[in-house]
Amino acid sequence: MKKVLFTETVLRDANQSLIATRMPIEAFEPILETMDKAGYYSVECWGGATFDSCMRYLNEDPWERLRRIKAKMPNTKLQMLLRGQNLLGYKHYPDDVVRKFVERSVANGIDVIRIFDALNDIRNIEVAVDETLKNGAIASGAISYTTSPVHTLEKYAQLCADMKSMGVQTICIKDMAGVMTPAESYDLVSAIKDKVDVPIVLHTHCTTGMAFMTYLKGVEAGADIIDTATSCLSGGTSQPATETLYHALEQLGYETGLKEEVINAVNNHFKKYSEECLQSGLLDPKVLKTDTNALNYKIPGGMLSNLISQLKQQNAIERLDEVLAETPRVREDLGYPPLVTPMSQMVGVQAATNVLLGERYKSIGKEVKAYLRGEYGRAPGEVNAELEQKVLGEGGKPMECRFADTLEPIFEKTKAELGSRAKCDEDVLSYISFPQVAEKFFADREKGAERPVKYKIELIG
Ligand code: CO
Repeated sequence: MKKVLFTETVLRDANQSLIATRMPIEAFEPILETMDKAGYYSVECWGGATFDSCMRYLNEDPWERLRRIKAKMPNTKLQMLLRGQNLLGYKHYPDDVVRKFVERSVANGIDVIRIFDALNDIRNIEVAVDETLKNGAIASGAISYTTSPVHTLEKYAQLCADMKSMGVQTICIKDMAGVMTPAESYDLVSAIKDKVDVPIVLHTHCTTGMAFMTYLKGVEAGADIIDTATSCLSGGTSQPATETLYHALEQLGYETGLKEEVINAVNNHFKKYSEECLQSGLLDPKVLKTDTNALNYKIPGGMLSNLISQLKQQNAIERLDEVLAETPRVREDLGYPPLVTPMSQMVGVQAATNVLLGERYKSIGKEVKAYLRGEYGRAPGEVNAELEQKVLGEGGKPMECRFADTLEPIFEKTKAELGSRAKCDEDVLSYISFPQVAEKFFADREKGAERPVKYKIELIG
C-alpha cells in the first residue's frame, strides 16, 4: 500500500503563522498525551520563532517547554526548525555554538531537525547536519523554495543529491511563501526522486490557495511526508488541515497511519483556544483569507505588506507600482536570492531606495553590501558585475570561505562572562541567541516573577 505520513505543525508553524507564536504551554500541555497517540510521523513543536517568543513574550524557558513536551509525548518524534549556521536568528554563529545548540536540543528531547539556509548554500547547513547525526537524531535537509531562471529542476535535484551525500535522512521542499503550484510540486518531486533515493517532505502554506492541490500532486509524484495543521488552526497563512488531507488521502488508497478519532480529539481541544484567539484579536481573520498577491507580484505576502508600510511611512505610497517593478530587477542584480528573511527585506528596501532617490544604487544598504561580500553565502546566480565592483572595489571578489570560518569560538568565553547568571549550558545558548531578551528573562526568573495572569485562563478545563 502507498504511504503518506503527516507532520503536525500546530505547536510551531501554525502557531507562528496565525498568532505570532504567542501560544503558551498551558494552551497545549493538556492535549499532548492524546497527540502522542495520533500516529503522526512527527510533531513540529520547537525552533523557528518559538524560542525567542517563549522568553520575550511568554516568560517561559524554551528548554523547559521542550522537556515538558517530551515528558508527555515519549512515543512521537519531536521536530524543530533550524536556520543552519544562523540557528534561530539571522546572523551567523561560530561552529562551536552551532554544535552546542544542536547537541543540547537533542539532549532535551528533539528527534528531527529540519535544517535550511535561506540562500540554499549548503556549506551553511553542513555543521548543523553533522552534529545532528553525531547525536543520533534525524537530519532533514531543506530547500528554500523559490522560482527564478537559475533555480532549475536540475539544480534543485543536484542540491538534494549533495545534501544526501552529507548524510541527511530526509529532504524537505520548504515553500515558506505558499507560492508553489501543483505543477511545480509534481515536477520538482519527480525530478528529485529521479536523481536521489530519499524520502521527501512537502512544506507549504495556504496563503495563495494552492496548498491542498500542491500536496496532492506532490504525493502523486512520490512525496512521502506532508506538513499539516489541525483544522481549527489551519488555512490562510498556516498549513492545510490535517483531517482534510487524512480523509482525502485515505480514500485515494494511501495509508497515513493516523487515527481518526485521535486527530478529531486534538482539534476539539484547540477549537476553544482558537476561538479565544479570534475574540481577543490575537488571531486576525485577515490571515485566514486566501491572498493571491504573491502570485500576481511574484513576491511573498509578508514582503508586500512590509513594502506598503515602508512606503506609507515615507509618504510615498503612490510609488508602489514603480517599487514593485524595481523589486525583480534588484533581485536579478543580486543573483536571484530566494525572497525570504533576511533577503526579502534587503531586496525590498533597496528597490524602494532606488526608486525614491531617482537613481539606482545611489545609496546601497549595509545588508546588500554584506551580501555582495559573500557574508550570507554564495549567491544562487550571477551577481551584476557593475554593482559588485561598486561595492567591492576594482577587481574585488566576494569571500571564498564560509563567513563562519572567520568567527572565533564564543561559547566558553560567554559562559565564563555570564557566571552565575547562567544556571546551565542551555542558558548560555539562550543568551548567545537573544542577549537582551535572555538577560531580562534571567532577571525575572531570579525575582521569581509570576507568569502573566492572562496565560492562566481556564484553557485547561
Ligand atoms: Co513554514
